[in-house]
Amino acid sequence: MTTASSQQPEPGAKRPVLTNRQGHPVHDNQNQRTIGARGPATLENYQFLEKISHFDRERIPERVVHARGTTAFGYFEAYGAVGDQPASVFTRAKLFQEKGKRTDLAIRFSTVAGGRDSSEVARDPRGFAVKFYTEDGNWDLVGNNLGVFFIRDAIKFPDFIHSQKPDPVTFERQDPNRAFDFLSQSPEALHMVTLVFGPRGIPASYRTQQGFGVNTYKWVNAQGETKLIKYHWIPKQGVESYTAEDAANIQATDLGSHTRDLYQAIERGDYPEWELLVQMMDDHEHPELDFDPLDDTKVWPEEVFPLHAVGKMVLNRAPENFFAENEQIAFGTGVLVDGLDFSDDKMLVGRTFSYSDTQRYRVGPNYLQLPVNAAKAKVATNQRDGQMAYGVDLGEGQNPHVNYEPSILGGLREAEYPAHDEQGPEITGRLTRKRIPRTNDYKQAGERYLLSEQWERDDLVANLVDALSQCDRPIQERMVWHFLMAEDELGLRVGDGLGITPADVSHLEPLATQSLTEEELNRLANLG
Ligand code: HEM
Repeated sequence: MTTASSQQPEPGAKRPVLTNRQGHPVHDNQNQRTIGARGPATLENYQFLEKISHFDRERIPERVVHARGTTAFGYFEAYGAVGDQPASVFTRAKLFQEKGKRTDLAIRFSTVAGGRDSSEVARDPRGFAVKFYTEDGNWDLVGNNLGVFFIRDAIKFPDFIHSQKPDPVTFERQDPNRAFDFLSQSPEALHMVTLVFGPRGIPASYRTQQGFGVNTYKWVNAQGETKLIKYHWIPKQGVESYTAEDAANIQATDLGSHTRDLYQAIERGDYPEWELLVQMMDDHEHPELDFDPLDDTKVWPEEVFPLHAVGKMVLNRAPENFFAENEQIAFGTGVLVDGLDFSDDKMLVGRTFSYSDTQRYRVGPNYLQLPVNAAKAKVATNQRDGQMAYGVDLGEGQNPHVNYEPSILGGLREAEYPAHDEQGPEITGRLTRKRIPRTNDYKQAGERYLLSEQWERDDLVANLVDALSQCDRPIQERMVWHFLMAEDELGLRVGDGLGITPADVSHLEPLATQSLTEEELNRLANLG
């Protein structure tokens, strides 16, 4: 990894001259201009004022979530096929079509809750955001390393994140009591809780973790036929995690171990690789399933919806400048290319608004003109001006006077519609505010526990007991109640660690926000 000392020029080599941003040489960078050696200073002190006022503006707001992160670059190489069929059977997206076709990409790994300089070995989901610079414009796949999420409706996201961040009065620390206060009242979070508090809650490095799109997307083929899609990234490096104890030891002296590991691997030519796989479903509601295919708190069982490899990602370059390429990179779930589409997943639609909204605030309205965000495909828009406008998106041969459309004076024209632009099932319904019918919050959480090996169960229970022991008794009781609803052994063991028996929680009613399945009602009747 390059450092200040490893990049020193040869002794005696001529060094470049310092200038200001106006190109004026700086003759004295130690002393400001003053009247006499002891001052006072003068206000026309351009060189000093420029230097200090730029410094005053060096920071931009950190991301409201995923502030701690690391970017790398590389390429995606398509297999041209999905299983034994050509990719074109399922999607017309150009990057997937030809075997061996390469598309440049950027990836940003991150933690979620901590600030910009926080520990990289925190117990937290990891962000896994990939930007493909395709010939049809950018595609961003903004996911995580665990495959599901805590909530299923975007309207809950600000509350969820507030509960994960430090107390607004004291700002003392991230507080399990606040986090579990929210989670205990949000039963849809239980599946994700079993993942975050299990061994996969602290990956050993960014290189040794999986990635997932998490939300449900669509693929569209040339005939306008659609499939529901879930994305998976599987690391060639294998999956490795840290225990809470490993992480505590590391973060006692080192907050940036994941970034260093990634950049060192790239520098020694040990380029990390992930294979991209998809699961597919026909594009409808699937009433035969006991979960909703658009619910991001659920996984799709792989024995019913098998994984198909569609390509691989190789990372071979670290950033040249952390601020330009990591702080200013901007991903969003609305950034799709022809052949890829949204589903009606209620998280996805909220996310799609939120990302570009925050980026206009965090980076500025022209964030898409920055090199790391700019499409490599030709951009020709009638968007003009705004803070920090860097260039004009003129189309080739466009009359530069015409920054509107329609026009007969040589302005931009609309592109032809892709064939079969109308696609997907027809939907009718009343406007309403309702939770989805098939919530089924406990089943996959319980199954995940039962599928875990003994050491994984032990680790999960120990981590839950440790975090919950810092919570108020009513919060502990509600969490034990949820765990018992998911799986007896899990509930009994966590309860045991906290001194709470099933009888202690059998008086608890289901939450007002919950609708229980028949199976769950039976479990409830037998609690205690
Ligand atoms: C970052 C909103 C759910 C993955 C962000 C940011 C916002 C946001 C505002 C900061 C973006 C920036 O400053 O550039 C939301 C909302 C959600 C949601 C409103 C729910 C409705 C999720 C989910 C995932 C996820 C479910 C995982 C599948 C990420 C990642 C980043 C991020 C990876 C970091 C992107 C980067 O590295 O720059 N999110 N998010 N988010 N979010 Fe979400």
